[in-house]
Amino acid sequence: MGTDKDIRINSFNDTKKDESFVIRECTFEDLELVKEVNEKELPEDYPFFFYKSILDNFPESFLVASPKDNPNKIIGYIMWRVEKTPSKDSLRLINKGHLVSIAILKAYRRKGIASALLAKSMPRIQNRQLKEYVLEVRVSNYGAIDLYEKFNYKKEGIKKKYYKDGENAYYMVCKVSE
Ligand code: ACO
Ligand code: ZN
Repeated sequence: MGTDKDIRINSFNDTKKDESFVIRECTFEDLELVKEVNEKELPEDYPFFFYKSILDNFPESFLVASPKDNPNKIIGYIMWRVEKTPSKDSLRLINKGHLVSIAILKAYRRKGIASALLAKSMPRIQNRQLKEYVLEVRVSNYGAIDLYEKFNYKKEGIKKKYYKDGENAYYMVCKVSE
């Protein structure tokens, strides 16, 4: 179990307007609650071992948000993985940071929590020599698309029928500045 002391050590917060939440690294003990947030807020559900393997492999960029006054409650999360894929212009393999999933509980949205999770996690995964950050998002998910565009992600293509229900995805890319 994470003690209050552990949580304080792992926390990092901007000295910005909204100080009602804290962001810290996810722990094994958080995973059930992360899974619950995902199941409430997104139609794509993953088995527990999937979260566990992301945490085992990419712990530095698996972050959670909690209310400041209730550090064991999880109100949002972000998780990434790194993939090696051939670059477009050569046969070289390049590392891409793939945003696997981000979600914030409804009651806590539009407070900058998703922005804070992105801002904190992107530099952390960047240490793995990424050339770009990539993600898929439902073409109807205007709020998320707006958020990603604020972080300089561009729509690079459409993946047809990417989701089980047949909806298309935008493939969005944010180049890492050299
Ligand atoms: N409508 C329009 N713009 C929005 C919306 C919205 N519903 N939500 C966020 N934005 C844009 C706005 O520009 C906003 O700035 P503003 O509030 O100053 O106008 C900016 O993004 C920053 O918003 P945050 O407060 O940082 O975002 P929030 O904490 O509310 O979380 C999120 C956004 C993650 C999309 C949330 O709505 C959510 O959890 N949705 C359900 C899950 C989901 O769709 N996740 C993304 C799936 S794609 C993937 O995971 C790769
Ligand atoms: Zn994806």
